[in-house]
Amino acid sequence: MSATPRIPVPESLGDPVPMTLPRLAEKKRLGEPIVMITAYDYPSAQVAQEARVDLVLVGDSGAMTVLGYPSTVPVSTDEMLMLAAAVRRGLKTPLLVGDLPFGSYEASDEQAIATAQRFVKEAGCDAVKLERGGTSAQRARAIVDAGIPVMGHVGLTPQTATALGGYRAQGRTSERALAVARDAFALQEAGCFSIVFEAIPASVAEELVPRLEIPVIGIGAGPATDGQVLVFHDLLGIYDGHAPRFAKRYAEVKSQMVAGVAEYAAEVRSGAFPTAEHTYSIDEDEFERFRVGLA
Ligand code: KIV
Repeated sequence: MSATPRIPVPESLGDPVPMTLPRLAEKKRLGEPIVMITAYDYPSAQVAQEARVDLVLVGDSGAMTVLGYPSTVPVSTDEMLMLAAAVRRGLKTPLLVGDLPFGSYEASDEQAIATAQRFVKEAGCDAVKLERGGTSAQRARAIVDAGIPVMGHVGLTPQTATALGGYRAQGRTSERALAVARDAFALQEAGCFSIVFEAIPASVAEELVPRLEIPVIGIGAGPATDGQVLVFHDLLGIYDGHAPRFAKRYAEVKSQMVAGVAEYAAEVRSGAFPTAEHTYSIDEDEFERFRVGLA
């Protein structure tokens, strides 16, 4: 793998301008593809910034990719807030969306508003995301009414994957596809500024996207969505757990990291590191006085 990006960021793009909700809506209207990626810390936020993505999601996928949990379910609001605050510090222009974790918004409108407010006040997020339609659409409306922009998420919703029969594509029967449609329209009606479609047939997305006024960001939903999102660690090959079929790899960073650390370990063991260029010196007279002092 080359050490330099295969597609350098074009200088002709000029300085990036902050992404706003009207600008996002305009992108849908103009048919300009929207680029979203997840990030979970300061360096990944800086990468997203320099690569000029439009939206950054501090996804609860971070539960698995950076915190090592077996699913997204166990991650707490405090853990998500710590990740989101680090991302905020590394980000300037993309819109920052914080993922409300499982159990932090479902119980009541009050709970949903209180958690969303923490993402804005404590972590500096511009917006929050929640999963599913149904009562989640009601929670979305409450958060929007409290002045916080909300992104919806339908199709495969990992927080409730068990109830969906596992991590599998959704909307593959007419009944299930209509259920996805109902959820999407309910979230739009609730005031969401955008929706994620995860793991649904491309043809179902193609029918729904033009019928929805708000931008649809797809992950495993084919090319007809208004934009795409991928998980940072899947895209760069940093995480080697189960990767779904839609997780296209653009780099193999983990193997480069392992190779770097293995070379360091080998050089320490062989004595090849450190050499003079990595060490500090002391004036000879000072050193002599030091030795006398020691004696
Ligand atoms: O948590 C996450 O990373 C997500 C994206 C896959 C949309 O919800």
